[in-house]
Amino acid sequence: MTLEAELGEAIGPVQVLTDPSVTASYETDWTRHFSGQARCVVRPGDARDVGSVLRLCGRHGVAVVTQGGNTGLVGGGVPDGGEVVLSTSRLSDIGPVDVAAGQVTVGAGVTLTALQEVVRPLGLDFGVDFAARDSATIGGLVSTNAGGERVLRYGTMRQQVVGLEAVLADGSVLSRLEALPKENTGYDLVGLLAGSEGTLAVITAVRVRLWPLLTHRTVALLALDSTSAALQALAELKPRLGALEAAELFLADGLALVREHTGLPAPMAGEHAAYLLVECADRVDRGDEMLEALEEVSGLVPGLADIVMGADERGRRGLWRYREAHTESINATGVPVKLDVAVPHSHLERALEELPGVVTQVAPGARTIIFGHLNEGNLHVNVLGATDHHGVSEAVLRYVASLHGSISAEHGIGRAKTQWLALSRSEPEIAAMRSIKAALDPGLLLNPGVIFPHG
Ligand code: MLT
Ligand code: ZN
Repeated sequence: MTLEAELGEAIGPVQVLTDPSVTASYETDWTRHFSGQARCVVRPGDARDVGSVLRLCGRHGVAVVTQGGNTGLVGGGVPDGGEVVLSTSRLSDIGPVDVAAGQVTVGAGVTLTALQEVVRPLGLDFGVDFAARDSATIGGLVSTNAGGERVLRYGTMRQQVVGLEAVLADGSVLSRLEALPKENTGYDLVGLLAGSEGTLAVITAVRVRLWPLLTHRTVALLALDSTSAALQALAELKPRLGALEAAELFLADGLALVREHTGLPAPMAGEHAAYLLVECADRVDRGDEMLEALEEVSGLVPGLADIVMGADERGRRGLWRYREAHTESINATGVPVKLDVAVPHSHLERALEELPGVVTQVAPGARTIIFGHLNEGNLHVNVLGATDHHGVSEAVLRYVASLHGSISAEHGIGRAKTQWLALSRSEPEIAAMRSIKAALDPGLLLNPGVIFPHG
């Protein structure tokens, strides 16, 4: 019997997709940078189904790539060629919200928006948020240890996971969904699977931590005449704003691209080199505190040229749109080289200044659009119009490593950065990671070629 027929028997023939017109959308990532043909796409309905899929694929020697919302940016969720794509789309249950514990169990295929829509009416919120919320899934967020716009306050995805259910390569189910606040019995397997990019297990359900919903949000967009002024403004604002939740940076060329793509009007008069979007959130209105802090900081940061504040929810969303529309605007312009790096604060000013030159040295004429999460030193370096994508990655990642930065702040290694892993991890670290991979997935069934190069 063929693998497809056996998979159909195990999870239902309609859940095994082979028609190329149907499987096509699973085979390319949405930046159009990574693609490969899938052997077929399977849509298991629960952990038992996933176990059957893994056992059958193992028996046939066919590798498996797990895919959530397909919003990943390093090629970790699309096939390289010939793998079975395991879609988590049917793992979409949302369990009862435990308001007292501030926890809920959700299927790996639940989108971030769906989770927000269930918990917010109950006065609770989820700690991770970012622009791809309508498609990005909770399983994908865990697999990549997603960061986003609220790390300043809540940390990354790993900090939001209190338990999970996952299926190991041999088909056995690892279930740790009863989340005790204190639990010190052996290795932290939950923490290990967060950020493992589908290489150690298939995550099927996640028990997440919820936070009190902060009902009052105040946002301000600061225009600055240099990136160093943006850094200075953030350094002055942080100790003055106890309710600070986000500090996002974008630059003049990124704003121009966003306006071109979206047709949005200028956020304020004049042109400025850098923009810093700051948001405070609390259960009471922090507008006055924000105004007072901004007034003080205006006197301290000479490069702070202008400020606009979101007057109401519509105004707030309007200001966020300038920041969140960067990804789609860049994508609409071409297939970018997307490099997601982090630089220590002490080197941020220098990195912001030097990165465009680092790119043009290997790709003359290319456009470098930088934006990101300033508090974490997390810069999204997007390069458009370069023919030598490998050369650009090599130059930027080596430069970042020379500043003791990270070659991947939040998007992961995926297939995109495997050859540069050693720039951010030492030999003993990589050896330890390889031992874990070999122990949990000796047959290299799960996402081969992701994190570590093939072989
Ligand atoms: C973002 O911060 O908007 C995301 O990481 C997406 C991106 O880098 O394009
Ligand atoms: Zn980001």
